[in-house]
Amino acid sequence: MFSSELIKKFEATPTPFYYYDTELLRKTLAQATAAARKHDIEVHYALKANANENILKIIQGYGVGADCVSVNEVLRARECGFAPGKIVFAGVGKSDEEISIAVNEGIFCFNCESLEEIEIIDGIAAKHKKKAQIALRINPNVNAHTHHYITTGLEENKFGINMWEMEKVLDAVKKCKHISLIGLHFHIGSQITDMNVYKTLCLRVNEIQQWFADRNIYVPNLNLGGGLGIDYYNPDKNAIVDFDKYFGIFRQFLKLNPGQKLHTEPGRALVAQCGALIAKTLYVKKGIQSNFIILDAGMTELIRPALYQSYHKIENITSHAKETLKYDVVGPICESSDCFGKAIDLPETKRGDLLALRSAGAYGESMSLDYNLRDRAKSYLTEDL
Ligand code: LLP
Repeated sequence: MFSSELIKKFEATPTPFYYYDTELLRKTLAQATAAARKHDIEVHYALKANANENILKIIQGYGVGADCVSVNEVLRARECGFAPGKIVFAGVGKSDEEISIAVNEGIFCFNCESLEEIEIIDGIAAKHKKKAQIALRINPNVNAHTHHYITTGLEENKFGINMWEMEKVLDAVKKCKHISLIGLHFHIGSQITDMNVYKTLCLRVNEIQQWFADRNIYVPNLNLGGGLGIDYYNPDKNAIVDFDKYFGIFRQFLKLNPGQKLHTEPGRALVAQCGALIAKTLYVKKGIQSNFIILDAGMTELIRPALYQSYHKIENITSHAKETLKYDVVGPICESSDCFGKAIDLPETKRGDLLALRSAGAYGESMSLDYNLRDRAKSYLTEDL
C-alpha cells in the first residue's frame, strides 16, 4: 500500500494522521456498485463508518444513497451531494428536533425502531403538513456470530421492533395519517464474515414477509442493512470483499414481492481497507516481559482495539532493520486499554519510526475522541500529499 515515495511524503507530514488511499477506495466502490447493479440492489452507504467530507464526496460520485443515524449525518450527506430521496435515517433515539429537520429535508425514509417513535414522527410530520415515509426496523432474532458489542439482531438487543409487538404497531400505523409505511428494515450486526449468517437472515425475512402477506400487507422496499465484514489480517491480499457473492446471497435466498426493491447499507466494507492511521514512535521502553513501542496515536484516534479487542495489522513502514523483536504497541493515553497490540513481531523499532495501523478507514476517524484534550488527527487523501 505504501510506496517509498509515499513514505517520504509521510515523513514530511506531522503525525498522527489518517491516510486514505483513494485509488483503492475508487476500485472498491466501482466493484461494489457494479455488483449492486448486476443484482439490482440499491446501496445506501452507512455514514457512521466514515463521515469525512472528502471521502463522502467520492462515495456520492458513485451514485449510492446514504444511511444516517443522526441529523448531523443527514445534513453532512446533503452537503456532500447525496439527494434527499436517497437518504435513510435510522437509530433507536431520534430526537424531536432531528425528526423535524429530517422531515423538512424530505428524506426517503425513517427506519423506525419503536411504536412510540412512529407516533412521534406522525405528529411532527402533521405539524409540518407533510407525509413522512417510514420503514419498520424489525428485530429478526438472528445471531450474527460477531463481537457481542456489534450484534444487534437478537431480542435481547435494544434495536428494532420485535415480531410479538407487530400487531399493535400495525394498528398504530393505520391510525397515523401523516406517515406511509413503505418498507421493512433489518440489520443484525457488523463485521459479519460468515455468509451463512446472511442466508439465515434471508430465510427469516421470508417468514416475516409471509406474516405480513397473511395480513395483506405488501411493502415496496426491503432493506437488509449492512454488516459485511472485511479481512483485518490480510489487508493487501484481500483488499476488496466479494460484493458479487454477498449480493448474490440475497438474490438467491430472498423471496421478494412483485416489484419490491432491495436495499443494503454497507459501511465498513466500502471504506475500511483504504484507510490507515499513521503514527510516530515517541519512545521505545523496556518492560519486564516485552518492549513497549509508545506511539503518538492512541485510543483517541483509533478506539476499536480498546473497545472491542479488535485486531488491526501493524507495520513499521520506515525501519530497515533485519532483526525482528516482540513489542507491545501502545498509545500515550492514561488508560491501560490504550493498547493496539501485544507481543507483535516488528523489525527493531526506534524513536521516530513510522508505524501504520491498517484497515482503519472504517470506525477509525469517525469514532475518534478528544479525551485528554488531544488534538484531532488530520486526514489526507492520496491526492493531498
Ligand atoms: N445499518 C445499520 C442500521 C447499522 O447499525 C450499521 C452499523 C450499518 C448499517 C453499517 O454496518 P457495517 O456495514 O459498517 O458493518 N463501531 C463498530 C461497528 C458498529 C456498527 C454499528 N452499526 C466497529 O468499529 O466495529
